[in-house]
Amino acid sequence: MNAFAPRAFRYALRCVLLTAVIPVAACGDRGADASGGMQGNPERGRLALTQYACHACHKIPGVTGSDVFVGPPLKGIAGRKFIAGRLPNTADNLVRWIRDPKQVDPLTAMPMLGVTEADANDMTAYLLSMD
Ligand code: HEC
Repeated sequence: MNAFAPRAFRYALRCVLLTAVIPVAACGDRGADASGGMQGNPERGRLALTQYACHACHKIPGVTGSDVFVGPPLKGIAGRKFIAGRLPNTADNLVRWIRDPKQVDPLTAMPMLGVTEADANDMTAYLLSMD
């Protein structure tokens, strides 16, 4: 057997095993995205919302800032059916929106802020944990 074969076998095995446990995208190259914001840490997310200055445009409960209304207030976002009226509101889609809103809607006024996947997961965990 050459050196490649065991690795390919392990990869295939991992796919089979992961697919059994996590049915979403376990074998894809976006496997890390599979559980979206639910992996995130809400307390880190609250800080990240400040660090990326999301509160410069959004009023966010628990994140101090001035009263601004460039973007919609994010209070109650967990209960909304759609993100920006475009994407069904799921953790994965929130991460996607936060990382690259213009990929979802080229005309949106929300800029791409270079949010990392880990930070977007944390923000999503916070946003979805608010009332
Ligand atoms: C320059 C202002 C601006 C900044 C900075 C900004 N946003 Fe937005 N955001 C907007 C606007 C405007 C919308 C409405 C988008 C639309 O409907 O096209 C929006 C929409 C949203 C929505 C969907 C809200 C809803 O009710 O559907 C979320 C969630 C959101 N932003 C999160 C964030 C996060 C997290 C950050 C920081 C990483 C951030 N935004 C930074 C302007 C901004």
